[in-house]
Amino acid sequence: MTGKTKAPPTTTDGGIPVASEEHSLTVGPNGPIVLHDHYLLEQMANFNRERIPERQPHAKGSGAFGHFEVTKDVSKYTKAKVFQKGTKTDVLMRFSTVAGERGSPDTWRDPRGFSVKMYTEDGNFDMVGNNTPIFFIRDPIKFQNFIRSQKRRADNGLRDHDMQWDFWTLSPESAHQVTYLMGDRGIPKTWREMNGYSSHTYMLVNAEGEKFWVKFHFHTDQGDGNAHYTQAEADKMAGQDGDVHRRDLFDNIAKGNHPSWTLKWQIMPFEDAKTYRYNPFDLTKTWPHADYPLIEVGKLTLNRNPTDFHTEIEQAAFEPNNMVPGIGLSPDKMLLARGFSYADAHRHRLGVNYKQIPVNAPQAPVHSYSKDGAGRTVNAVDPVYAPNSYGGPAADPSLTDDAGQWHSDGDMVRQAYTLREDDDDVSQPGILIREVMDDAQRKRLVENIVGHLCDGVSEKVLVRAFDYWRAIDQKTGDKVEKGVRDKLGGKSKAPGMASAESIKQAMNAK
Ligand code: HEM
Repeated sequence: MTGKTKAPPTTTDGGIPVASEEHSLTVGPNGPIVLHDHYLLEQMANFNRERIPERQPHAKGSGAFGHFEVTKDVSKYTKAKVFQKGTKTDVLMRFSTVAGERGSPDTWRDPRGFSVKMYTEDGNFDMVGNNTPIFFIRDPIKFQNFIRSQKRRADNGLRDHDMQWDFWTLSPESAHQVTYLMGDRGIPKTWREMNGYSSHTYMLVNAEGEKFWVKFHFHTDQGDGNAHYTQAEADKMAGQDGDVHRRDLFDNIAKGNHPSWTLKWQIMPFEDAKTYRYNPFDLTKTWPHADYPLIEVGKLTLNRNPTDFHTEIEQAAFEPNNMVPGIGLSPDKMLLARGFSYADAHRHRLGVNYKQIPVNAPQAPVHSYSKDGAGRTVNAVDPVYAPNSYGGPAADPSLTDDAGQWHSDGDMVRQAYTLREDDDDVSQPGILIREVMDDAQRKRLVENIVGHLCDGVSEKVLVRAFDYWRAIDQKTGDKVEKGVRDKLGGKSKAPGMASAESIKQAMNAK
């Protein structure tokens, strides 16, 4: 902001010059305010409507703009124009925590969201990932309950480690993600220094119609991807500067220190998925690099801060079903459910015409038959129906990958993925602890788990947590139990939660 030019006159939202920012219109200097003070009423009404609902999960975050440039020839895997060598595409990115509210501290232990929107010439491509390559659950029917267990209790409105560990230990498929969460990745130092992952498997289609499975890895160019705060540093920072990550990103971009990430892909041949030793669509698993090495694709750089946080970041709407020709979803049940959930969230949070908000509008031409609705800004054109004989848009299936994505047939069931030879919940997190972490990381992991478990976790959940860690890695489980018992000086006295039955009885007794 500079004061060099003469400031323009203040107007109402209708562009009408206003008389004062200091005094309301009254009957005499001491008299009542009159109802036709248009500007006063407009300001009060606008103020009361400033807040839109926060995102249900991932409410706290921030982002910036930049571009993605393809540096290698990967055309044998995909025809997507955005991934052809030399193509440079505008991007928006948003980073976030998951469980905290819009004003919560950036340094609470949590996975971090890593959302990318690419404004490609074929429409918007969104990759809505995290800073970890896997997730807590593998069936979307558990997601809502999972998030509730990480947020706040009904009675006291507090976050509660007992309910977090209760859910995790009753959901053993969470082991891999909880291992990442309790390790260094649970509190990154800055967003600039963390990696981002699609976590899910996606599909790629090349110009010949050949299909591949792919996982996206965005490796930070600012260090090794492991820069972190210890729990003690993070707790202190939460009091000192709750917005430390938001501030770091904004200040660095403003100084011209533009962060970048190198995009790499793991590619699995289409047929491999049928026989691979575990289900490659299971979101709780990574693919070993020895089987599917990383292939470099391009570079993403952030170089422009938002000028209005609300319109450009708070109103940003990322959705995993924004896929362009050459990239598609996969049989990962979580990913397929996300294909519905996000657009629904945006309609609630931003209104049905959220794709016309400039930050969400594609740079590609739009020829859709959607019409009307609150907040619409783009004129509809006749004919407003299809089919028609007046030259309106007509679907061209040759431009899409809809047909023949993958084969699927069977009775309708409610069942987990069919187990394969190496499908289990504990091998990969065990390897992460024993073979990927070094001694210092393993020590911090145990300390973090012990600290977390000693903060309000009831005895019955504690006992299950010890078994949970022993199943992942015997030594870790033993150290966790010893650490917790030593620190608590015996059994936990945390009450946990009254059972639903006893609450009902108490209410009936009134
Ligand atoms: C945000 C649902 C799994 C990453 C959200 C939002 C919803 C949601 C409703 C808020 C959207 C908004 O209001 O703008 C779900 C469901 C899931 C799921 C139903 C599973 C079935 C995941 C997974 C990841 C993820 C597996 C990462 C791999 C994110 C991110 C955001 C988000 C990064 C924030 C987007 C932004 O920056 O605006 N999720 N989610 N979610 N989710 Fe998920």
